[in-house]
Amino acid sequence: MHYRPLGKSGLLVSELCFGTMSFGQQGYWEKIGGLDQSAAQRLVDIALDAGINFFDSADVYSYGQSEEILGKTLKSKRDKVVLATKVRGRMSQEINDVGLSRRHIIQSCENSLRRLGTDYLDLYIVHSFDFMTPLEETLSALNDLVHSGKVRYLGCSNYFAWQLMKALSISERHHWEKFISLQAYYSLVSRDVEIELAPLCRDQGLGITPWSPLGAGFLTGKYPRGGKGPQDARRSKEDHNFIQLDEDKAYAILDEVQRIAKARGVSAAQVSLNYLLRKSPVSSVIIGATKPEQLQDNLKTVEWQLSAEEVAALDEISTPPRLYPHWMLEFTRLDRDNPAMIM
Ligand SMILES: NC(=O)c1ccc[n+]([C@@H]2O[C@H](COP(=O)([O-])OP(=O)(O)OC[C@H]3O[C@@H](n4cnc5c(N)ncnc54)[C@H](OP(=O)(O)O)[C@@H]3O)[C@@H](O)[C@H]2O)c1
Repeated sequence: MHYRPLGKSGLLVSELCFGTMSFGQQGYWEKIGGLDQSAAQRLVDIALDAGINFFDSADVYSYGQSEEILGKTLKSKRDKVVLATKVRGRMSQEINDVGLSRRHIIQSCENSLRRLGTDYLDLYIVHSFDFMTPLEETLSALNDLVHSGKVRYLGCSNYFAWQLMKALSISERHHWEKFISLQAYYSLVSRDVEIELAPLCRDQGLGITPWSPLGAGFLTGKYPRGGKGPQDARRSKEDHNFIQLDEDKAYAILDEVQRIAKARGVSAAQVSLNYLLRKSPVSSVIIGATKPEQLQDNLKTVEWQLSAEEVAALDEISTPPRLYPHWMLEFTRLDRDNPAMIM
């Protein structure tokens, strides 16, 4: 396992992070994994043995159960790992038990600390943008949590580029702690993040931690074209298949992934994860699993590297749309780079 700084911070994280959305059996998340304490312990032990030091959870995953289970699995290893969890989602029908208000953030942090059985979080992530709360209120509450010693670093997830840039500017203006990482959906079947967010993160020194790097399992190849995947697998369960795919394009990408996998004698999942590890500014790829053999397969991706030619072939087949103003800026930069070009 290799370790990389999370963004431009001094915090070193394993290049694979273990995501625990599959832990717990409450509400919507039960069908995402529904793992109990002993199944979760098996996975965490495999992850730790492979050198993973970075674990991701969220308050909403099984309404707190994921955090409770994760905390118990880590026990005495707490100080050896980097623990991340998230806040924003609704936790009860109480009117203020949602969002990124000062009240909800501080209360949620206390609850997450209790469930995880720790007195500090390494990375506290806002799960997505809260359109109701002023950013100043959110960022000042997060800054207070860092200065109170309850949180070490801050991250965000599922932001538009303008929201992230605005948040970074507000924090800078007030000398508050800034986000050091962006957790974003990023996989070979969706490289939208490369359009605006990745250049912004490179410019501002944030590390990207891709979530659902296999498109919720699609990139393992276990969902045949026009057919059904395994019955117990997430994408086979209606309502739990929240990741949107352009199927024609996705299967063309999968064909290339499988061609490379076959030639190398590795799995399609390993090729897909390996691709993201080659992308800047990715700090750590958040892998998920419901079974030990899935995790063991995914972990093998750190033992080898795609060649530049293989990355180029995957780049080409999965190119994200060239949205405006990309094509216009490519056109207008011609006269910037070439003094002889006068129209
Ligand atoms: N910030 C956010 O909004 C957000 C959103 C989603 C996820 N996340 C984070 O990202 C983590 C990973 O997300 P994800 O679980 O969607 O990732 P993913 O890698 O796209 O999908 C993982 C799922 O695919 C299947 N799978 C994985 N490896 C496999 C293999 N080698 N062979 C066959 N099947 C395999 C398993 O599900 P089945 O057994 O059901 O097929 C597994 O749970 C989560 O745990 C969470 O921490 C964050």
